[in-house]
Amino acid sequence: MTPWRQACEEALRRHSEADAIRAWGFSREASGGSRAPFNYRLEHSRAVVKLARWLCPRVGADLEVVECAAWLHDATKSLGHGAERDCHAQEAAEAAEAILEGTDFPRGKVEAVRSAIRHHVGLRLAHRLEPLEAAVLWDCDKLSKIGAASLVHFTCVAGAFQAIETGDILRRGQAWLDLAEGIAESMNTEPARIEAGRRLEFLKRHYEQLAREWADPTEPCPT
Ligand SMILES: [Fe+2]
Ligand SMILES: [Fe+2]
Repeated sequence: MTPWRQACEEALRRHSEADAIRAWGFSREASGGSRAPFNYRLEHSRAVVKLARWLCPRVGADLEVVECAAWLHDATKSLGHGAERDCHAQEAAEAAEAILEGTDFPRGKVEAVRSAIRHHVGLRLAHRLEPLEAAVLWDCDKLSKIGAASLVHFTCVAGAFQAIETGDILRRGQAWLDLAEGIAESMNTEPARIEAGRRLEFLKRHYEQLAREWADPTEPCPT
């Protein structure tokens, strides 16, 4: 019987690596067989798994359910797809069943994994999510988008879509801060809310510093 973490990571790696190579425009041969310059989906999912391991014991959530959902929540998602075509939560929830088949993951918890995956989307919540495992997956997924690692991830993946310049990174980062405020306000659990506030302050300081460094000293300061 395959260990479930191994099955989840392999399924995620298979889809995300092929998708990253497509997004970067490299053939498998040109990329040395199987590597894209940066596999955003894999790195992002690893961050969500680490956060699940941190948050679950603090709020009493089932770690097996949330970690499994963290590995698989974006396992079928493709880079660069517009929101109008985005059914990745439903697709990943459907795929989870087959990925976990034949592994040592408890059968009685598969539906809880699928439910958490189905509910992880959106950058704002009007109501606290239920059950707790769905709420914790949402918090971990969103925390991963507003920390120091997210700066690395967003910057590295940006080159897959267009030529990038520091000024673009700064403008996009400053626009992201408004969305990050909404994410921080929507956290379901108290430890995630506190951590989100900490990360938001870090992000603000980071972009303030970048703006200072990137301002043209010969131009008047914007009012
Ligand atoms: Fe997602
Ligand atoms: Fe995600």
